[in-house]
Amino acid sequence: MRLEISGLRKSYGRHLAVRDVGLVVEEGEFVVILGPSGCGKTTTLRCLAGLEKPDDGTIRIGTATVFDGGGAVFVPPEQRNIGMIFQSYALWPHMTVFENVAFPFEARRQRGPQVRDRVRDVLALVGLAGLEDRSASLLSGGQMQRVALARALACKPAALLFDEPLSNLDLKLRHHLRQELRELQKTSGASAVFVTHDQSEAAALADRIVVMNEGRIVQSDTPEKLFSRPADRFTADFIGIPNLLPVRAVTAASDGRWKVDVSPHLALEGEAPSGVRPGDGWWVWFRAEHVEMTAAAPRASGCGDFPARIVQRTFTGTDYVYRLQAGHAPEASVEVTARDVRKLEPGDLIAARVLPGQAHLVPDATAR
Ligand SMILES: Nc1ncnc2c1ncn2[C@@H]1O[C@H](COP(=O)(O)OP(=O)(O)OP(=O)(O)O)[C@@H](O)[C@H]1O
Ligand SMILES: [Mg+2]
Repeated sequence: MRLEISGLRKSYGRHLAVRDVGLVVEEGEFVVILGPSGCGKTTTLRCLAGLEKPDDGTIRIGTATVFDGGGAVFVPPEQRNIGMIFQSYALWPHMTVFENVAFPFEARRQRGPQVRDRVRDVLALVGLAGLEDRSASLLSGGQMQRVALARALACKPAALLFDEPLSNLDLKLRHHLRQELRELQKTSGASAVFVTHDQSEAAALADRIVVMNEGRIVQSDTPEKLFSRPADRFTADFIGIPNLLPVRAVTAASDGRWKVDVSPHLALEGEAPSGVRPGDGWWVWFRAEHVEMTAAAPRASGCGDFPARIVQRTFTGTDYVYRLQAGHAPEASVEVTARDVRKLEPGDLIAARVLPGQAHLVPDATAR
C-alpha cells in the first residue's frame, strides 16, 4: 500500500527529533532512510507504525488517514496493518518459534487451522521449516532475525518497517539476509521502509534512498543518482566520498561550468547543481579512482593537473589507497585509489591529475 507522510514533526521535551518530514512510499516500493546516529530515522519509523504520537503532520496508509495533527486522528499500531522488524529482534524468549510467529494472530484472538497453516507457510518462506518447536532463546542471531521477519510477514501487512534489522549480524550473514529480505519484500508486494546508517546496505536494498540529517530529509533519489550526484556536502561526506574539498575561489568557465581553486596548485572545472550560486559556500568532490598518478616530473599545470607528494599508502585487500598532498605545502590532501602501482612509494614527488569531467561541485547545504 502507498504510504504518505507530510509535515511530520516530533519533539522529545525541547529536542526536535523530526522536523517537517514529507515522504511518499509508492505501493511495493523499497525506500531506505539513511542518516547518521540521532538524525531521526527511528522516530520517523515509530511515528509511521503508531508507536509514537507526532506533534504535527499527517500520515496516510493507503486511503486511510492514520494520523492527522490538525484533525486529532490517531489510529493505534495494531490497527495499521504494518509489520515492524527491529535490530533487537524483539522476540519472546520463553516462547517457541511457532508461538512467536503466531503471536500477532493470538493478539487478535485468531486461532485454528488457517492460522497454523499461515505460520508454517511463512516459516518455510524464511527458511525455518522444521524449527517450529525450538525455543526462541536457543536460536542464532540470523535465525532470530528470520523469526522476526516471519512474524512481521504473517498477517500479510500493507507495509514492512525495518529498523536496522541486520546490524547485529556478521558481515556474510548480513549480505545474505539482505538479498533474501529484498526478495521476500518483492514477492509479498508490501511497501517497505528500511532504516540504516550503512550506505552500502542502503545502496544494495533501495529503490530509493532518503537521506536524513538533523531531523530533516536532505535528499531523496535512486541509489545510482544519489551516489553519482550527492546534493550537498553533508550527503557527499556521508556516502563516503574521500575527496571533498572546500573551494577557495570561483570563476565562470564555458557551458555553464565553473573553474574553482582548491589550493594554489589545484584548480578544477565542474558543474554546479542548478539554482546554486557562487558564494553559497561551495565544495568540490571527485572519486579516488578518477585521480591518475605518474612517476614523471610534474607537467605544465592545466586544469586538474597538480604536483603532489605521496604521504601514505594503504593496502585495502584489493587495492592500494594512496594519500597525496597537493603542492609542496600541506594545503590540500587528496586521496587516490590505484591498483598495482607498487613502484610509487610514500615520499615520492609525482604528477597527479583529476580526470576531465570527474569533478563535481556541491553547496555546503541544500536550501532549507
Ligand atoms: N524517547 C526519547 N526521549 C528523548 N529523546 C529521544 C527519544 N527518542 C529519541 N530521542 C532523541 O531524538 C533524536 C532522534 O532519535 P532517533 O532514535 O530517531 O535517531 P536515529 O536516527 O534512529 O539514530 P540511531 O542511528 O542512533 O538509531 C535523538 O537526538 C534522540 O536522542
Ligand atoms: Mg535508530
